[in-house]
Amino acid sequence: MTGLEAWLGKDNPKLMKNIVILISGAGSNMAAIVLAAEQRQWSDRLGVRVAAVVSNRADADGLEFAKTRGIPVVVVDHKSFASREAFDLALQDEIDRFEPTLVVLAGFMRILSSGFVRHFHNRLINIHPSLLPAFAGLNTHQRAIEMGCQFAGATVHHVTPDLDHGPILAQGVVPVLPMDTAESLAERVLTQEHLMYPQAIERLLSA
Ligand code: GRF
Repeated sequence: MTGLEAWLGKDNPKLMKNIVILISGAGSNMAAIVLAAEQRQWSDRLGVRVAAVVSNRADADGLEFAKTRGIPVVVVDHKSFASREAFDLALQDEIDRFEPTLVVLAGFMRILSSGFVRHFHNRLINIHPSLLPAFAGLNTHQRAIEMGCQFAGATVHHVTPDLDHGPILAQGVVPVLPMDTAESLAERVLTQEHLMYPQAIERLLSA
């Protein structure tokens, strides 16, 4: 932040780099990002703030956490729209209201249309619970165990129209242990996600 910007007021939303986080459920990655932003003083150090949390489900647990941190929450219920394109356009409009520098998918369980992905080109990222390009799609942990993988992990990547295939920004690796179930492996990977996603975002927005 420049001296002029500091003088004008660091909390002036027009001068901040806004992050909008999209969730569908627990939102533990979103919470990790919000806590990292607070603890690592993104606002003062980087001029970065989490401007909003958006969910396609009104009952997403993560929304309560966001509210307790004073972050605006928005629900765009995909069931209220006749088509994927109509939903994506409404979602896009809601996100645009916050003028985001970065849109962060954090357990957002909707496939996004190519129009949406193009609109946020180069400022849309996702975390996927596997070491891409292995195991794109669902049930990643079970598939890694069945293949006999000795290592698993998560990948932060740019989002492109090709599902789970965008350029990789960061990867975190964990061991697969002999007694692992999909659940125990998922838990180990998720702990890793909570460390790596905030770090990847901080790196991206510091560049
Ligand atoms: C995470 O494992 C993430 O990689 C995947 O969905 C899960 C979301 O968990 N895309 P949470 O909602 O952040 O707790």
